[in-house]
Amino acid sequence: MTDARATRRTFLKLTAMTGAAAGVVAVSGRAGAQTASDPAKAGDLLLHQDGPNKGKPVKATEVKVGEAVWAVAVDPATKKPRDAMKGGVVLTKVASGKLQASSKPNAAGDIVAYSSVCTHQGCPSKEIGSLGQGKGHIICTCHGSIYDPADNATVLGGPAPKRLPALPIKVDAAGAVVAKAGFTGKVGPK
Ligand code: FES
Repeated sequence: MTDARATRRTFLKLTAMTGAAAGVVAVSGRAGAQTASDPAKAGDLLLHQDGPNKGKPVKATEVKVGEAVWAVAVDPATKKPRDAMKGGVVLTKVASGKLQASSKPNAAGDIVAYSSVCTHQGCPSKEIGSLGQGKGHIICTCHGSIYDPADNATVLGGPAPKRLPALPIKVDAAGAVVAKAGFTGKVGPK
């Protein structure tokens, strides 16, 4: 079976499990293995990687429960991206009262941010879906890894060997989400 067919089959299986295909926020995938560490730094801006606001700072008000915002960490001095993939970040908002203690030190209110590079083989993990046990899981559709953004991106299923590193964030005076520190762990696969 080709990778593309395997990916589609996994995605269909996931949506069939949930019965909530309409609730899955799909963002086009760009695969690529990444292994560099700490590609974001304290003070980095987070700019939209796609959509109508591409290149603009991610505002806290744009991050919604059950939705994904895909961003890239940008050096505030040079205005250049750290790296379009290694600095890739997926942001989402956890439903009120659901954020676990493991996630709170790195969150801004109920907004959390993680590396978007899957720890299995480096595909982008930037879809938000439901598996029937709670909404808003981060899903990598390459091989079906599932991470829980409410619990420090712990692995709920699939072949990922470890959680996604968190990006500690805060909201600045202009309402934009910025990095408070670098990623909490090594980005990408082993
Ligand atoms: S790269 Fe295999 S599940 Fe993400």
